[in-house]
Amino acid sequence: MGIGVASASALWVGSYQRRMPVSLDRMYENALDWAHLPFLHHGSFASIELLDAGDWGWRATLVSAHRGAQPEAFVVQLSLDRKHRRWISSTLEGPGAGSEIWTHVFEYGPRDIAIQADFFVPGVALDQKARVGAGYQQLYQGLYDEDEAMMLGRQNALDQGAAQNSVESEALDLGPFESVQKTQGLDFDFNGQRWRLVADQDELIVHSLTCPHQLGSFVGEAVIDGAITCPWHGYRFDVRSGDCLSGHPCKLPKAPRVMARGGRLIATQAAP
Ligand code: FES
Ligand SMILES: [Fe+2]
Repeated sequence: MGIGVASASALWVGSYQRRMPVSLDRMYENALDWAHLPFLHHGSFASIELLDAGDWGWRATLVSAHRGAQPEAFVVQLSLDRKHRRWISSTLEGPGAGSEIWTHVFEYGPRDIAIQADFFVPGVALDQKARVGAGYQQLYQGLYDEDEAMMLGRQNALDQGAAQNSVESEALDLGPFESVQKTQGLDFDFNGQRWRLVADQDELIVHSLTCPHQLGSFVGEAVIDGAITCPWHGYRFDVRSGDCLSGHPCKLPKAPRVMARGGRLIATQAAP
């Protein structure tokens, strides 16, 4: 039987457990981060409109985006209860109103947690319980696959920033000129940060692989029409100027310069 007691008319239909090498802080950040839902989880959510938010949690209108299904709007409230290391996501209006998901966190170490999500759904006949429970488990498996990868990427970027050596290299040999593929580019580390070199026509462009918003990773994201989009919250950046094209007050960091010298590519620190 699951933990927690939801509203009396809702039936416990199943639970989902997962152990993850992330900290409690990363997990709480993720729970409070309503804005990532339609971007990182675009297979499940089409849009979100915030109604209220604070340290306590958030309330928002979400629109579903399940393949082959009509989009549906519903109001969800997430209430974080740090004292009991849990949060409760309640559907307040729309399809599934009255259902609650209670997620508890168990901390095994500084970067070793487990979560258990228990699903309570109203109006489910007993003979449908297993089917409905399996649907929720599948949904949560997919959402946590996406969340865990992003939380690990953010932690990595934070660690890299903290460990950054104050003595910076003057130059880095990136290898032969041919190593830059027009379509894929070349990813490299230089002075504690990750960068990508791409060739656009005859121009070599270097851009950060870390989003300035919350350190989301651009690894695997293509430059389209001179811009890159962060998969976490959807911010778009011009890779040449670094400007945020979606109007947020942040900018890509100044990239190293890369020049071809004697058939090799050399990265050097950009002038401040
Ligand atoms: S980390 Fe939020 S948009 Fe990139
Ligand atoms: Fe998420």
